[in-house]
Amino acid sequence: MPIVFSFSNDNFIANKVASNLNFKRGNATIRHFPDSESYVKLNSEVKNEDVILINSLDHPDRKAMALLFFADVAKEYGAKSIGLICPYLGYMRQDKRFHDGEAISSDIFAKFLSQHLDWLITVDPHLHRYKALEEIYSIPTRVVHATLPIAQWIIDNVHNPYLIGPDEESTQWISEVAKLTHAPFVILEKIRRGDRDVTVSVHDMEQYREHTPVILDDIISTAQTMIETAHQLNAIGLKPPICIGVHPIFAANSYQTLINAPIAKVVSSNTIPHASNAIDVSPLITEALKAYLND
Ligand code: R5P
Repeated sequence: MPIVFSFSNDNFIANKVASNLNFKRGNATIRHFPDSESYVKLNSEVKNEDVILINSLDHPDRKAMALLFFADVAKEYGAKSIGLICPYLGYMRQDKRFHDGEAISSDIFAKFLSQHLDWLITVDPHLHRYKALEEIYSIPTRVVHATLPIAQWIIDNVHNPYLIGPDEESTQWISEVAKLTHAPFVILEKIRRGDRDVTVSVHDMEQYREHTPVILDDIISTAQTMIETAHQLNAIGLKPPICIGVHPIFAANSYQTLINAPIAKVVSSNTIPHASNAIDVSPLITEALKAYLND
């Protein structure tokens, strides 16, 4: 029977998945020394075990070394296999060399994880120029989509929704959620000039004045995409939007800045623990893991 580890004992998804499937819960000490180097110690037996590590890879620079040490020490102590369930998979956005000399970090990071792990399950990775994880990962991968619980949340909580995708990449989530909620939708055009310099162009939305706008995006990082879209909707007289993000990274003070923008509410899935979490992806992850192990 597999044994489930995470970087902290109170990892909600790890605890949920282990208890849903009746898997043992492993214990490891993962911490950083004062100089920020990573320390890893296994406190549970892993000999001949299938080890599953459940941990998001937001702030991947801080977590990657611990992950490497964890995977290698588990192998050294006789683990049969090491799989990673990574509700948020970092380093997916640099999927192209935009300027000469740039590292294509998504590809390099994928090689790094593929070298040290046996399989990977993640939730809605940022697939833009890559169509599938297999293009960069050489280990078996499975992708879970948060669209179903997001659609359910909208059905349960939003009156007369009008779905808004802030950029072309969001089409994949918006069109699926629109199908499930039977709500109208629009995809906007976004131009990003820098990390915090984003413009979004809105179309004529006169007929949706009585709807509740719902902006849906995969990642909220600086929140500039959400904030800019909210301002544009406000300028053309739409109601304050509900902002839904699959992965609530919220860099620096961006959450505070977003809730001070002309919006009604911020909601996210729990791929990354955050005050805005309202959509639980652990049932989907449990199902995906069960299916993968039965394959
Ligand atoms: C990028 O294309 C993603 O889909 C998101 O739109 C983006 O990561 C959001 O970033 P930010 O919150 O920094 O505007």
